[in-house]
Amino acid sequence: GLLRRRANLLCVGLDNSGKSTAHEEVVPTVGFSVEMFERGKVSFTIFDMSGQGKYRDLWRHYFSEADGIIFVIDSADRDRIVVAREELALMLENKVLAKRPIPVLFLANKMDLENGLSPVECSEALGLDRIRDRAWNISACNALTGEGLEAGLEWIIDMLR
Ligand code: GTP
Repeated sequence: GLLRRRANLLCVGLDNSGKSTAHEEVVPTVGFSVEMFERGKVSFTIFDMSGQGKYRDLWRHYFSEADGIIFVIDSADRDRIVVAREELALMLENKVLAKRPIPVLFLANKMDLENGLSPVECSEALGLDRIRDRAWNISACNALTGEGLEAGLEWIIDMLR
């Protein structure tokens, strides 16, 4: 038919993980920003949430509207991967989200940095194997060059088709 379908993607992750870069922005996100793109008959809206501590509480207000989640990880920030793990656990424990088995795409960003964790190491550090109630996938990317981004997005777009 002629009708377009809409899908909302919620993009979360710690501050400095590269969320805004992945969506071509330059200033730290205050609260959130919005970006749109179209694929076939589906028009996607990405809600890029700020990862700064004081704004992380805002993420949950979008769980009821989200059709998919993109969780960006700074794979080179070994010190804060435990913080990412805590934020992920909090997110997945949320009552609204627990009832909605929407897919989660993890982006192991900054793959260009030499000391970075591989996607396998990221998924171990985050305990992703414990996620059994929803589809998830992890892929490495470099938000600066766009390398790997498309493959990750392709996966979540396929899940939403
Ligand atoms: P908040 O808006 O505060 O939540 O941060 P954010 O997750 O949006 O991070 P942002 O996109 O602002 O990126 C943080 C820093 O990491 C910037 O200096 C980016 O240039 C840098 N950066 C992002 N992606 C990459 C990457 O793939 N490789 C490298 N080397 N640097 C990156």
